[in-house]
Amino acid sequence: MFDVQKVRADFPILSRKVNGKPLVYLDNGASAQKPQVVIDAINTAYAEEYANVHRGLHTLSTIATEKYESVRGKIARFINAGSEDNIILNSGTTEGINMVSYAWAAPRMQAGDEIVLSIMEHHANIVPWHFLRERLGVVIKWVDVDANGDLDPDAVIAAIGPKTKLVAVTQMSNVLGTVIDVKTICAGAHEKGVPVLVDGSQSAVHMPIDVCDIGADFFAITGHKLYGPSGSGAIYVSPDRMAEMRPFMGGGDMIREVSRDSVIYNDAPMKFEAGTPGIVQTIGLGVALDYMMNIGMDAIAEHEKALCSYARGKLDGLNWLNVQGQSATKGAIFSLTIDGAAHAHDISTVLDKKGVAVRAGTHCAMPLMDHMGVGATCRASFGMYNTVEEVDVLVDALELCHELFG
Ligand code: ALA
Repeated sequence: MFDVQKVRADFPILSRKVNGKPLVYLDNGASAQKPQVVIDAINTAYAEEYANVHRGLHTLSTIATEKYESVRGKIARFINAGSEDNIILNSGTTEGINMVSYAWAAPRMQAGDEIVLSIMEHHANIVPWHFLRERLGVVIKWVDVDANGDLDPDAVIAAIGPKTKLVAVTQMSNVLGTVIDVKTICAGAHEKGVPVLVDGSQSAVHMPIDVCDIGADFFAITGHKLYGPSGSGAIYVSPDRMAEMRPFMGGGDMIREVSRDSVIYNDAPMKFEAGTPGIVQTIGLGVALDYMMNIGMDAIAEHEKALCSYARGKLDGLNWLNVQGQSATKGAIFSLTIDGAAHAHDISTVLDKKGVAVRAGTHCAMPLMDHMGVGATCRASFGMYNTVEEVDVLVDALELCHELFG
């Protein structure tokens, strides 16, 4: 049985005040808070068990290596990756997608080849493909969302032509909260022989993920949104695509032998992990995943569904408030503007005075904002520790904004 108060008690920061008010943390889409078990694990790793990994035979290095490497299997279980050999550890989604751009896409693309993207991608799933446009003459084909913020999987599949080499889509919009049917997209793209990269950085914290069922070729996640440390993350790469990738960054750990004239690379996935990694960050991520798996992703999803439905009811009832994106599959991310009101930055400043933390701006999603014709929004994004009472605090604070600016 999911007990939100018990969960809240695990997150020390939630008991602090901000500007004299109890903190209402609604900026989870940007980064989630950390439970005490993660904070303790970081402390223990540095205070008692720290050394570099994969490099020493001494006791501390062995402990650190075992703890670090155990996370690969936890991530594989968390997203049902089949095998931990399909998991490349990294610093987060941005690194994961950039790696796919350099290590898989660049060597197999030439001028005129196409990449299909949805208009609601985060810049981390746009800019790495602009690199290929600039450097190789690759063409980006955009698929728009409709007025509700829905992305039609068939429109994505229809955009795939003979020159398409990759489809790259988010599973959940970081601006609108729309959850995309990536399984249908993967099936349709594969029928046309085209691989699919799924950006799971927003979705993975809100719902159970099964990359094998989705059929993704690449699935990127980021630790700091999963109640783990920043600088941790991973990308799932299917065995076929893994075999096609050439090493991205060179250095220690991805190497078996180096001579004056040659190099022999390590086996995958370590072939794609150069340099000293985020050791403690990754260990912390493993603890965060254990924490979520112990609660159960189904239970978390059910709690957030109820929260989302309550918030939608309240926010949709304010006729001076615009909620961007009204998809039936919307998760608990709300981008808001107030009719005739001040800039989103001013609204977020008033909310902050009431203890409510939101993100304001264009949310690293400028093509979507341009498509929606919105300059900036205030974004309230929920996590497992949020409550219906906090929705009420948000609504009261928005009403104050309406009085002040509307
Ligand atoms: N990707 C993060 C967000 O949407 C930073 O806010």
